[in-house]
Amino acid sequence: LRSSFALRAQKQQGRSSHYHLQPQASFKVAILGAAGGIGQPLALLIKMSPLVSTLHLYDIANVKGVAADLSHCNTPSQVVDFTGTSELASSLKGVDVVVIPAGVPRKPGMTRDDLFNINANIVKSLVEAVADNCPEAFIHMISNPVNSTVPIAAEVLKQKGVYDPKKLFGVTTLDVVRANTFVAQKKNLKLIDVDVPVVGGHAGITILPLLSKTRPSVSFTDEEIQELTVRIQNAGTEVVEAKAGAGSATLSMAYAAARFVESSLRALDGDGDVYECSYVQSDLTDLPFFASRVKLSNKGVEALISSDLQGLTEYEQKALDALKPELKASIEKGVTFVQKQA
Ligand code: NAI
Repeated sequence: LRSSFALRAQKQQGRSSHYHLQPQASFKVAILGAAGGIGQPLALLIKMSPLVSTLHLYDIANVKGVAADLSHCNTPSQVVDFTGTSELASSLKGVDVVVIPAGVPRKPGMTRDDLFNINANIVKSLVEAVADNCPEAFIHMISNPVNSTVPIAAEVLKQKGVYDPKKLFGVTTLDVVRANTFVAQKKNLKLIDVDVPVVGGHAGITILPLLSKTRPSVSFTDEEIQELTVRIQNAGTEVVEAKAGAGSATLSMAYAAARFVESSLRALDGDGDVYECSYVQSDLTDLPFFASRVKLSNKGVEALISSDLQGLTEYEQKALDALKPELKASIEKGVTFVQKQA
């Protein structure tokens, strides 16, 4: 979003850019789970994008009102609502990007893995519909546990014969957004400048911020590294506890997901300079899925950025070694879930 707003500002100031000056609203985006805590603010943020022509909102209930409300905003995209499984296929036709925040969120005391039993089934049925109706679309998986729901989606797409690993993304942008915010606060830096790559996965110790690779280059004491790493890993739980039973992060998550959607749309639109962290099929480690910075193009993942994983500090290397068994188990749990039902 920031970049779209920046583009508009550039345009107003008459400045040129290597990217085109007049972003055209031309892409179709669908949100599955659009009436939920994340879905609603995410829909609002996507409605503000100059790159979106049509926004499809799908949920099992309560989506009509959300769509009616949003449709009154005088931004270019047209909003269309779809309710219930009978309308799921129509919600996906011709869609370029499908965002999936459908499912239940955590309550205090729960891990993301505790959501597996409910969300695995929801994700499986939604991705089956994606495979049948818009197999070429970018898929942004938000539903937790992301460490398992992305492998579930991959297995479903494989069974349907339409798996393109370059187009399936676990959304880990919130981990980066949090890392950037906390580092900027701690080091008194301008928020807009700070960029911390976050690798691994999206749960507890599998979230590994590579603070040594922070841009601009910043030095941290050992205590600061420990404190920041643990805070970034537990930031979701901080919100779950503060909401005291009312759910998990929704507003910051919507902001982060909107950023990832906007980056994907810019890549689809031909911008050759788009990088984001995401949990994707990967050969950067011995694990089949791994979050890292990726370069995006109109084909999806254009390249995995391996340089962040080179020259790790001893702290980061130990943390990477420690997260692998948990991430491996979560991946296998997702794969087994689909294969057992085949
Ligand atoms: P919510 O409960 O407020 O909303 C979920 C929505 O999904 C509801 O509107 C519900 O009707 C809908 N839904 C349920 N089953 C569905 C189905 N079969 N098809 C379509 N829609 C369905 O939950 P919230 O807070 O929006 O969270 C959604 C998910 O996002 C949770 O799994 C949560 O753990 C995850 N999450 C992921 C984050 C990430 O960084 N990737 C961060 C925060 C949350």
